[in-house]
Amino acid sequence: MLADTVDRATVTKMLRQFYKTLLEDELVSPYFIRALGQDLEGGKWRDHLSTLDNFWLKMMTGKGAYGGHPFPPHAFLGEMYPETFACWLKHFKVATNQFFIPEIADKFYKKSEILAAQFMDNLDIGEED
Ligand code: HEM
Repeated sequence: MLADTVDRATVTKMLRQFYKTLLEDELVSPYFIRALGQDLEGGKWRDHLSTLDNFWLKMMTGKGAYGGHPFPPHAFLGEMYPETFACWLKHFKVATNQFFIPEIADKFYKKSEILAAQFMDNLDIGEED
């Protein structure tokens, strides 16, 4: 059954599925493997997943312990392109719709699109290049 509220348990499940899919995608997986390795159960991934749980809870509910800055790590991941972000967004749309009712999945997606656009702007990549 699709979730009609956002809580830690559902966000956690959705994100694990999302990152599992990203690790299976040959366009985006290299960025994650370089930074965090391939083992979703490994220590670096555990930290990343826990940060992301808190990040998305904060984004969606205003609660959650995320107090960081989402962009800076992305400046050090190697060259990224509009296609890299399009691929990330495509998988995020699928994962959110797998776990949440459409209204909530859309809210996740709109927020991720705004962030992705900001990241691309900060990295100076986009349409005009
Ligand atoms: C091409 C797309 C993307 C790639 C390849 C990517 C990759 C990564 C990687 C490898 C890290 C971990 C860096 C480290 O700990 O050394 C990270 C952190 C993070 N990413 Fe992304 N990311 C992408 C897009 C996004 C988008 C669109 C969002 C938000 C909607 C996002 C949110 C975050 C957040 C919140 C963190 C943790 C920042 C912190 O440490 O506080 N990422 N990303």
